[in-house]
Amino acid sequence: MARKPLIAGNWKMNNTIGEAVVLAQEISNEMEPDWLDAVDVAVFPPFTDLKPVYTVFEFDKLGVAVGAQNVFWEPSGAYTGEISIPMLRGIGCAYCIVGHSERRQYFGETNEDVNRKVAALVADGTQRIDPIVCVGESLAVRDEGSYLEFVEAQVKAAFAGIDAEAAAHAVVAYEPIWAIGTGRTATPEQAQEVCGAIRETLSALFGDVAAQMRVLYGGSMNEGNAELLLSQPDIDGGLVGGASLKAASFIQIVKAAL
Ligand code: 13P
Repeated sequence: MARKPLIAGNWKMNNTIGEAVVLAQEISNEMEPDWLDAVDVAVFPPFTDLKPVYTVFEFDKLGVAVGAQNVFWEPSGAYTGEISIPMLRGIGCAYCIVGHSERRQYFGETNEDVNRKVAALVADGTQRIDPIVCVGESLAVRDEGSYLEFVEAQVKAAFAGIDAEAAAHAVVAYEPIWAIGTGRTATPEQAQEVCGAIRETLSALFGDVAAQMRVLYGGSMNEGNAELLLSQPDIDGGLVGGASLKAASFIQIVKAAL
């Protein structure tokens, strides 16, 4: 089954409101309207920039989506500092990154937390917010050789208790920690090996539905390496960090997915 590629720009903790609006406008200006027929494009600004960035894209009517970098699983209540799914829905988020390695590493997110967030996101399909579930091994795990088992366990934990129908629109992003922000990209073969293993795991969990689920690669993806990575059979797009902060390089990566 042909899967529509997704190019997702994770801005991380970058861009004040003014900077975010400028970047969104630059991306919009360089985008050709018919590209969105062939590739889904989304950016993931910090929470404070979500609404203004959404407004830029809504005005330009190109169909570039916005997503959040994180969410809490409870719908409301006394959880100081957290943001809920209905809040994201209210400002038009179409996606939400879950379990990014930086959240696991610096904010103590566990596989159980990731599972609760994914379950909450897929539970209500009225206005979909599709999770982008991040998995990936450290350099120590890679060197030790058990990276396929490690990533498989992360995928299984993230989707525990979730059925195929609910999981159908979820996205998985393979982001080896040793490739994030380091300039050391996984080779297309290394990325394909793990993305293929992720799809096999999804297949074991969800049967035929796995063939329609998108698996992305992330980790130092840029305009120079995107095309080869995106040509791999089980890589359906990219989760781009640093290179998504410059409109020109992000647009080149979008073009590589056409
Ligand atoms: P870089 O593209 O900066 O390596 O970041 C990847 C990433 O973590 C995207 O979520």
